[in-house]
Formats: sequence, structure tokens, C-alpha cells
Amino acid sequence: TGHTALDYGFVNTAATKSAITFIDGDEGILRYRGYPIEQLAKNSTYLEVAWLLLYGELPTADQLAEWDDKIRHHTLLHEDLKRFFSSLPHTAHPMSVLSAATAALSTYYEGQSDPNNPEHVELNTIRLLAKLPVIAAYAHKKSIGHAFLYPDNSLSFVDNFLKLNFGNLAEVYEVNPVTSRALERLLILHEDHEQNASTSTVRLVGSTGANQFSSISAGINALYGPLHGGANEAVLDMLARIRDSGESVQRFVERVKNKEDGVKLMGFGHRVYKNFDPRAKLVKESADEVLAELGVHDPLLDLAKELEEVALSDDYFKERRLYPNVDFYTGVIYKAMGFPTRMFTPLFAIGRLPGWLAHWTEMQNDPQTKIGRPQQLYVGAPERNYPGL
Ligand code: CMC
Repeated sequence: TGHTALDYGFVNTAATKSAITFIDGDEGILRYRGYPIEQLAKNSTYLEVAWLLLYGELPTADQLAEWDDKIRHHTLLHEDLKRFFSSLPHTAHPMSVLSAATAALSTYYEGQSDPNNPEHVELNTIRLLAKLPVIAAYAHKKSIGHAFLYPDNSLSFVDNFLKLNFGNLAEVYEVNPVTSRALERLLILHEDHEQNASTSTVRLVGSTGANQFSSISAGINALYGPLHGGANEAVLDMLARIRDSGESVQRFVERVKNKEDGVKLMGFGHRVYKNFDPRAKLVKESADEVLAELGVHDPLLDLAKELEEVALSDDYFKERRLYPNVDFYTGVIYKAMGFPTRMFTPLFAIGRLPGWLAHWTEMQNDPQTKIGRPQQLYVGAPERNYPGL
């Protein structure tokens, strides 16, 4: 139509109003429902922030306790769904397993997944929050050929997740409080980020009337890409490649600047943050702290710091206002906790799940919501006749 504006990558187009998350990219500000991310990361918990994102206010102690209890009691996966994992190769990437199993979850709740039924929506919010970490942990166990553990209702959300990943059937599992608190903090930092690619995907799919399972599964697939959540895995692969090849950091940065083979500095740059990413600042502080507390010395952390220093003093990065984003230092911490590289993006997915659910619900309750349907500018052939006519 004559009114269509071309906007590759939606750089200038708002597709919705939202009251969930505020970002000021120039000032490096991130707030969930008005609360600064720094305060939440320091003082809150994953589930408390999830409630805040979903319902707009912090829960009372009673509300939170009741909700936490419900979530603990929805962690079990149907035994048939557990067998789903054995139909996949052990080499399967956990992100593919996660999106497939999340889509498959909806088959167990047919008739209970009406987007217009508030009771269904609330129940499936609880189910997804409870079961996504279990699915992710099983994808991990499957990839290393270990037995699945049952969720342990006596443990907090994060501790249960750690036990499902690192516990085994033969020994009593003891949660390391340092790992537990650090993971809680990292998950909080990932909980929402307004209209990023995966959240926009969840909204677009949800705008068709699709249920929460289908919409979240689509969001997981969008997150998988290396320009989005997949960047945390790509950063560690990049660091390991630099270390193994013996290439100097300077030489690697030169290759990035020359755009040789399309190589990018993974974990750098952001569509919105142009001075710094407030999450990256908090993650970097955590990286030193957590590795020290866990007694881990990882040369990849030194390499990451060197890479950051070289890049930040280089005109290419200065001119383009490229800074470390949330994915730059998280991988080093996840690695120190014992997660294999391919689990990094599933950790991001668990972190982002409350945001996806909050946006899905906000969209559902917004009377102005319409099916998402972008325009295009047609640049193909004009009308022509099929040969012989
Ligand atoms: N390394 C090298 N050059 C870069 C990078 C990078 N990481 N990021 C952007 N540039 C260059 C880009 O090539 C372009 O240069 P030129 O004008 O010469 O063509 C300029 O900077 C502007 O970049 P853009 O691609 O137009 O920026 P965008 O807003 O479309 O993309 C981004 C944002 C995050 C996709 C991009 O910065 C990127 O690919 N970064 C690496 C992947 C990454 O770390 N992603 C995680 C993002 S944060 C959390 C999350 O969503 O998961």
C-alpha cells in the first residue's frame, strides 16, 4: 500500500504498547515493572521476579510461597514424555530438544490450553515454569548418557534444577550455595528484555490464537540463533578456538574488523544498548566473584578480558558503539558451574521464560491486539503469461 514504510529488522517500528520492561539504550538502563535490574538481581529470586513480570507487582510473602509450592508440585513430566527423549540421538542439541519437548507438552494438555480461559492460562504458566527446567536438565542428562532424576520438591527452583543436572542416582546431592545464588542472579538478569526477537516471536505466534506451549516453543527456536541467545554458546566456542589456534587476540580482532569470512566478535554489540549493557556489567562482576569462590581459574576468562580490552580501545568498535552484551561473560560462569557449552542457551531460555509468558499474557489481555501481519514491498516480476498462453 502507499503507506507501507520499509523497516528491515523493525529498527523503527513499535508493534505494541507494553508495561513490562523499560530500556534506555543510551543510558544503559533496564527496569522490570519500574524496578532497576541491579536491585532485583541483588535482592530478589527468579520466581519473585517472574511473578512481578507476569502480574505487575511484587508478590506478598504468602502469594509467593503458595505459587512456589504449586510450581514445585508441577515439575513431574508424564512418563510417556520422558520416553520422547530416547527417540532422539544423544548428539541432539539441547535447544532442539527443548523446543520439541515444549511443543510436545501441549499434547498432554489438549482441552486445557484455551488462551481465552484465565484458569487455563494460569495453570499452563505454572506448568511451563515448572517443567521447562526439567526438560532442559533431561536434555543435558540425555546428552551425556546419564539417568534422569526425579525432581525434588524439597528444593528451591534453582537448587532443584542444579540437582537434576548434576546429581546422580547413587549419591546424595549437596547444593553449592555459591553456584545456586550465582545462577539465580543470572536467571534474573535474563528474565525479560522487551521486544527482542524471541519475545516478538512469542507474541507473533500468540497473536494467531496459538496456546502458550506452541508460542513458547517458537520463542525457544528464535532464541537458538547465534545472533540472539545462541551467542552465549558462540562466545565460548570463539574463545576456545582462539586459545586452540594460538592466534593472537589482536589478529582475531583484525579479522573481525575486516569482516573476514563474516567473523564477528560474539557477545559484542546490541540493537538497543549503545554505551553499555547493564546486564553485562553485573555478569562481569559475577564472573570474577564466582570463579574465585568456586576455586576455578579459567584461562578463557583472561582471554575474554583481553579481547574486551583490545576491542574497546579500537576505533572500529568505538565508531559502531559496540560493547560487551549479556552473553559475553555468562558462558565462563556456566562453564565454571559445570554446564557443558551446549547447555548455555537452554539456561538463557529458562531465564527468559517468565518474560515470554508475561508478554504472551499482556498481548492476550490487550483489547488492541490483532493478528501480527507485517507488510512487504513487492519487488518481483510484473504480471506475465504462462508459456503457451
Ligand atoms: N562484531 C563485529 N562487528 C559488529 C558486531 C560484532 N559483534 N556487531 C555489530 N557489528 C557491526 C556490523 O557489522 C555493522 O557494521 P557496518 O556498519 O560496517 O556494516 C555495525 O556494527 C552495526 O551492526 P548491525 O549488525 O547493524 O547491528 P544490529 O543492531 O542489527 O545487530 C546484534 C545487533 C546483537 C545482532 C549484533 O551486534 C551482533 O551480531 N552481535 C554478535 C552476536 C551477539 O552477541 N548477540 C547477542 C545479543 S545480546 C543478547 C541476546 O539477544 O541474546
